Amino acid sequence: MNRKPVIIAPSVLACDFLRIADECTRIERAGADWLHLDIMDGHFVDNLSFGPAVVESIARIAGVPLDAHLMIERPDHFFPRFTPHVENVTIHIEPSYDVAATLKAIRAEGCTAGLAISPPTDFGRVEPYLDQIDLLLVMTVNPGFGGQAFLPGTMAKVERADQIRSDRKLDFHIQVDGGINPQTAAVAQGHGANVMVAGTNIFRAPDPVRAIRSLRGQA
Ligand code: DX5
Ligand code: ZN
Repeated sequence: MNRKPVIIAPSVLACDFLRIADECTRIERAGADWLHLDIMDGHFVDNLSFGPAVVESIARIAGVPLDAHLMIERPDHFFPRFTPHVENVTIHIEPSYDVAATLKAIRAEGCTAGLAISPPTDFGRVEPYLDQIDLLLVMTVNPGFGGQAFLPGTMAKVERADQIRSDRKLDFHIQVDGGINPQTAAVAQGHGANVMVAGTNIFRAPDPVRAIRSLRGQA
């Protein structure tokens, strides 16, 4: 098993949007490694969040790498609106577009490239791209909303990804997103995931320093 350091990426979707700058700073100071930005278009998922203008504003105040998760129907069309402002861009495998060309173009823009897979999608869909990515996002809820319950069946995908990574001597991060709390984070890390995305569990925590430490598996 590839033992990468645990990275905590709080999802801004769970912040108080009236105070977004203060919220990002508060959570960075609590020990966040990255900030995770959920972009939703009302087509790929049944929800709308925020777009490039808000991401650009967050980039002006952020002191940690930004991780954009594009839950949109046309990642190939929209990724260039995000690459100037963030360190990582993750696109989903499910929409119809040229995935390989888009991953390559994201890297050409100077970002790392992530590929995401939703719970109902067969792992075989992402397998051909594993040597072309920096991060695999195994969604642990159906994308679209924060505050949902972790789906344990998704751990088979994390295990498979971890196995292929070691068989093929690859080095991508394995990220989990949705319903992540100290218990589910420990499960995901046990299967080989190292990047923990958590919205509710961090932004709504009475003590976010403690919440972040707990997700790392620290007391
Ligand atoms: C869901 C998003 C998640 C979400 C996680 O579509 O991708 O990043 O914000 O929220 P929690 O941690 O509350 O499940
Ligand atoms: Zn996300």
